[in-house]
Amino acid sequence: MTTDLASVLAGSRLLPVLTVASVASAGPLADALAAGGARCAEVTFRTPDAERVVKAMAAHGALTVGAGTVLTAEQAERAVAAGARFLVSPGYDDEVVDRARRLGVPVVPGVATASELMRALKAGLDTVKLFPAEPLGGTGLLRALAAPFPQARFVPTGGIGPGRLPAYLAHPSVLAVGGSWIATSGHLERGQYDEIRRLTAEAVERTAP
Ligand code: 3PG
Repeated sequence: MTTDLASVLAGSRLLPVLTVASVASAGPLADALAAGGARCAEVTFRTPDAERVVKAMAAHGALTVGAGTVLTAEQAERAVAAGARFLVSPGYDDEVVDRARRLGVPVVPGVATASELMRALKAGLDTVKLFPAEPLGGTGLLRALAAPFPQARFVPTGGIGPGRLPAYLAHPSVLAVGGSWIATSGHLERGQYDEIRRLTAEAVERTAP
C-alpha cells in the first residue's frame, strides 16, 4: 500500500532524522520516539547498519519509517526492500525519483534553489525538502521560495532546532520540519532514550498551533 506521505507529515509535522550506528538501538529508539508523540522517522543511509535499522524500526510498527540520504537508485531499491515507506534525498536526482516511482513509494527530494524546485514540480512532485534550510537563509528563504510556487509543500531541514520550529511551521506551505536534534548520534551512543523521548515531546508540543 502506498503511503500517503502528506497525511503522515501533516499529522505529526515533525520528521526526526536519525543516523543510527547500531541496529541494537532501533527498538528503544522507536519506543522513545513513539512515546514522545512522533508518528514518523527518517533513517539516513549513512551507516553500514542503515538497512537493518530501517527493517527493525519498520517492524516495530509504531512509526511510519522512511529512508534518508538516498543518493542512488540502488539505495532506493535497498531501502524499500528493507521496509522504507518513503524516501528522502538531500538533493534532486532523476534516477532516484524514477526508481521511487516504479517502486510505488513517495520521494521527497532536497531543493535549495528555484530551479531545483521547478525540476521537482515538473516531475510531478509537490513535496520537497528545503535543505539545508538554516544555512541557506531560514524562514526568509522559505518565504521567498514559496511565494512563486504556492503549489509546493516544504519540509525544511538542516540546522533547525526546537526554538526555530514554530517559525517554520507558521508558514502555510510547510508540511513538517525535519531535524536530527531529537536523537543525535551522541544520545544513541550514550543510550539516552529518556532524553530522546523528552526532546520529541517538547518538539511535538511546539508543533501545536
Ligand atoms: C539531513 O540529512 O536531513 C540533515 O542532516 C538533518 O539536518 P540537521 O542535522 O541539521 O538537523
